[in-house]
Amino acid sequence: MALVSAKEMLEKARDGKYAVGQFNINNLEWTKAILQTAEELKSPVILGVSEGAGKYMTGFKTVAAMVKAMIEELKITVPVALHLDHGTYEGCYKCIEAGFSSIMFDGSHFPIDENVAKTKELVAVCKKKGLSLEAEVGAIGGEEDGVIGKGECADPDECKKIADLGVTMLAAGIGNIHGKYPADWLGLSFETLAAVKDKVGKMPLVLHGGTGIPTEMIKKAISLGVAKINVNTECQLAFQEATRKYIEEGKDLVGKGFDPRKLLAPGSQAIKDTVKEKMEIFGSIGKA
Ligand code: 13P
Repeated sequence: MALVSAKEMLEKARDGKYAVGQFNINNLEWTKAILQTAEELKSPVILGVSEGAGKYMTGFKTVAAMVKAMIEELKITVPVALHLDHGTYEGCYKCIEAGFSSIMFDGSHFPIDENVAKTKELVAVCKKKGLSLEAEVGAIGGEEDGVIGKGECADPDECKKIADLGVTMLAAGIGNIHGKYPADWLGLSFETLAAVKDKVGKMPLVLHGGTGIPTEMIKKAISLGVAKINVNTECQLAFQEATRKYIEEGKDLVGKGFDPRKLLAPGSQAIKDTVKEKMEIFGSIGKA
């Protein structure tokens, strides 16, 4: 199956009261583990690519070519969107050209009028090309590719301004943070989420910083209109822990245990287990 825009899968999720997971990819192992899990569980999936990860993988063209070929070779039948995560204005155009099926323009650090102007321009471009577009209001806290925020909450009126431009989905800060949540984290602001929902109507909402949010909060967020949840750090931590265990147990020193395919296998399995666990909580299993 060819890459799809995230529009249809997210509208279905919103109507069916579940969420589609966006899992960020870093390399071949990540991509393969996520695609195989989605296929096995018959779940739609969004592969997220940050600008930093895109650069690491030698560029967005490499990423698009790898993902498209892998979908074909692995005979993936579930809907897969390839999505730029927290894109800059220039990055959005690079991904559109490279063949991504979905992009996020993160104009949250611009004054609202500039965010509106740039988002509006990208809405028109994406509509023409059949891509889905995610916009953001109110920076999501935490550290992502060197950018640090504080778990801000978006202004619902600004959310409406951006939603009215015709974006496919909207990421609104509701106290969520990228990376691990600090011990003194106050939790998600459902008050903000409800106020945003009230202003933006049926627009599918996106929850960033999916790592470490308690299950009950995730379920409540879905009931209030969240249809896409982003997970990145949790897969990295699972990969790290499994790889550390393999080496600490000295398995790389036995026989051909140094073979990269063996060395990376426990980490890949840990990513699969994490993705499965998230898809169960999000409710997307069997919805492909
Ligand atoms: P985490 O790394 O906290 O899971 O956040 C991922 C994310 O929101 C990507 O945009």
